[in-house]
Amino acid sequence: MSIHVKNNITWVGQRDWEVRDFHGTEYKTLKGSSYNSYLIKEEKNVLIDTVDHKFSRDFVLNLMQEIDLDKIDYIIINHAEEDHAGALTELMSRIPNTPIYCTENAIDSINGHHHHPEWNFNVVKTGDSLDIGNGKKLIFVETPMLHWPDSMMTYMTEDAVLFSNDAFGQHYCDEHLFNDEVDQTELFEQCQRYYANILTPFSRLVTPKITEILGFNLPVSMIATSHGVVWRDNPTQIVELYLKWAADYQEDRITILYDTMSNNTRMMADAIAQGIAEVDPRVAVKIYNVARHDKNEILTQVFRSKGILVGSSTMNNVMMPKVAGILEEMAGLRFRNKKASAFGSYGWNGGAVDRIQTRLMDASFETTIALKTKWRPDCDAMEVCREHGRTIARQWALSPLPEKASQPEPAAAPAAALEVPVNAAPKSTAAGDAGQKMVCSVCLWVYDPATGEDSQDVAPGTVWSDVPEDFLCPECGMGKDVFDPYEG
Ligand code: FEO
Repeated sequence: MSIHVKNNITWVGQRDWEVRDFHGTEYKTLKGSSYNSYLIKEEKNVLIDTVDHKFSRDFVLNLMQEIDLDKIDYIIINHAEEDHAGALTELMSRIPNTPIYCTENAIDSINGHHHHPEWNFNVVKTGDSLDIGNGKKLIFVETPMLHWPDSMMTYMTEDAVLFSNDAFGQHYCDEHLFNDEVDQTELFEQCQRYYANILTPFSRLVTPKITEILGFNLPVSMIATSHGVVWRDNPTQIVELYLKWAADYQEDRITILYDTMSNNTRMMADAIAQGIAEVDPRVAVKIYNVARHDKNEILTQVFRSKGILVGSSTMNNVMMPKVAGILEEMAGLRFRNKKASAFGSYGWNGGAVDRIQTRLMDASFETTIALKTKWRPDCDAMEVCREHGRTIARQWALSPLPEKASQPEPAAAPAAALEVPVNAAPKSTAAGDAGQKMVCSVCLWVYDPATGEDSQDVAPGTVWSDVPEDFLCPECGMGKDVFDPYEG
């Protein structure tokens, strides 16, 4: 089946109503997904992206209903991941000499997956264009790390359509293709889930890249993504949302996540939430047992929050494994501008809380006081937990609290629980210090002034402020603006 998109552009993609896992089992696609491929028939016939490899044969048979495959002049691969380039082997077996246009990095990935180095690859860079006749051109824009090193977008002049690949997409399946035709609540939930779980680590790159694209002053009538809807009604609304989400996004929201062996840590979570809501009813408070709830929803809530509390019982002197797992994932997502605190109940020792607090700090959260309770919290301990929630509400308030709520907490707490002042705040070191190392926020490569960077003629002893402005991370190719002081 196909869907008319605009003028001579046709959707020839594949819906996937039943997919529930992406990236192994790390991303739950609760609303399915789609793999959007587009066929342009101008004086030249162009195919933009393919579909997931598991639909290769269906895709090619469907495409043959639209065009004689031998009449395809160019194939554009905006991104080489298997959900977009997966059908290349099936397609190229029928038209092996057709030119493929993609970034240099994409060739590495396509060859790595399909093992056909003899294919007719043509490398493109930002600003390169391809004349497709009838006065129209395709202009290419590299978008490295949004979200893979090979990613790019393709802009079609005259029709003013931006084929954005993963960016601005959603894992969302619907019989309708256009954004104005689908349930808006579902759509924007999936947009935010997609950004929070996939693009958050690269937020520092989103704004400069969008600014670069806007700098071309090209009109945009549609944004044709490779997952989910085509944005035709007010297409730049999703661009504006990306700019907002990339700017250290937070809402007046606190997320509490935990796992519990004997219900005791869950009791603490409830009491802490009560204390927060009591002092600051403006705050949205959400509680999740990480062992029982959709992980990607929890991470989306973390993305939305100004702060999080992470709790675990102590088991074998460490935290429970599902808490450790989500902490590792949060470290990878590199959330910014968020506070955090650990809590948990223990029997023989309280090692979990200390370890959580350390992991939160490693993940760049600004940590505040932690809380431990021994065994099942009694009435006194539950009151300590509520008071802990009140303290958190005061400390994390985004604006002044009402007079009554802003009163300081009691000087002494009952002895049934223990507040643990661990790692009060991340160290802050000026980037101008002579020995200050700097870390790339995209790939975590570390610049050490003691060694410099030989391949770019940065001599040993060069402090960061003297490193040339055109310096690029030797690992991922990003510029100086994505580097942060290294606290390790
Ligand atoms: Fe939709 Fe990065 O693949």
